[in-house]
Amino acid sequence: MTGPEDDAAPADAMEAEFDTVAGWTEEAVRALGPEHAIPAGCRGTGSEGAMRWLADRLALEPGTRFLDAGAGVGGPAGWLAQERELRPVCAEPMVAAVRASRRLFGLPSVVAVSQRLPFADGSFEAAWCLGVLCTTSDKAGALADLRRTMTEGGRLGLLVFVADAPLPPPLPEGNDFPSEDELRRLLAGAGFRLEEFADADLGDSPEEWTRRADAVQAEVARRHGADPAFQQAEENSGRVGRLLSHGALRAWLGVAVAH
Ligand SMILES: C[S@@+](CC[C@H](N)C(=O)[O-])C[C@H]1O[C@@H](n2cnc3c(N)ncnc32)[C@H](O)[C@@H]1O
Repeated sequence: MTGPEDDAAPADAMEAEFDTVAGWTEEAVRALGPEHAIPAGCRGTGSEGAMRWLADRLALEPGTRFLDAGAGVGGPAGWLAQERELRPVCAEPMVAAVRASRRLFGLPSVVAVSQRLPFADGSFEAAWCLGVLCTTSDKAGALADLRRTMTEGGRLGLLVFVADAPLPPPLPEGNDFPSEDELRRLLAGAGFRLEEFADADLGDSPEEWTRRADAVQAEVARRHGADPAFQQAEENSGRVGRLLSHGALRAWLGVAVAH
C-alpha cells in the first residue's frame, strides 16, 4: 500500500472500513456459507439493480477483458463473473480486501490504487469503478490511469456518490464527494465521453440478497462489535447512509466511453 502522504492513498480513517472490516467480512462469510459472499461482498455499493444497469450498458461479451477498479472484497466482480462469461480483474488498495476477493471469488486481484494501475496501456475493453471516486481526492489521477489501461472505445461504468451542495455535518471521514458537474468535467478531462447516466435506487436488491448481507453484518458485529475499528466503520457508513436518506448525497450511475 502507498503512504498516507499520498493523495491517491485511502485516508487512515477509511482503513477500518475497507481493510479491517473486509477481513472480518471474509471470516463471517466463511462461517455462514458461500451463498453469502456476493451480497456481503457488495456492501460498498449494495445494489444488484445498479450493477445490472451498468452491466447491461457495457457491451460485455464472453471473454471481454474487464477491470474492477477499487473492487473492495470482490462482490461486484464476483457477481459479474457469475452473471456473464467474464473473469474480471480486481485492483484494490486494501490488502485484506484483495485477499478476500481472491479467496471468496477466486478472482485475479492486485493491490493497487486506481491512480497507478499495474497494467499495460489498452489492457481492458470494459471497466467499472463503484463507490470509489468519492473515497479519493485525486479523482483526475484515477480517471486518467483508468483511461490509459482501457482500449479506445472501451466502456467505463461508474457509481459515484455525488453532493450538489455543501453537506451538513457530521461528515463521513475520508470521503470527498464531487458534484455531478465536477464529475462530468473530470470525465471529459480524462478522455471519456459520458454516454448515459441515471440516479441509482440502492434499495432495489432482492429480499434474499438483503437478508444474507444483513446476516453477515450481524455475524461481524457478534464477533467484533466491541472493537473500535468496527465502531469507527459503523459510524462512517452510518453517516453516508444518513446523507443518502436525507437526499444530501445521491448515488449517480454513469456509462462513459474512452475516446
Ligand atoms: C465503498 S467501497 C466500494 C468497494 C466495491 N467497489 C463495491 O462496490 O463493493 C470503496 C473502495 O474504494 C477503495 N479505494 C479507496 N481509495 C482508492 C483509490 N485511490 N484507488 C482505488 N480504490 C480505492 C477502498 O479501499 C474501498 O475498497
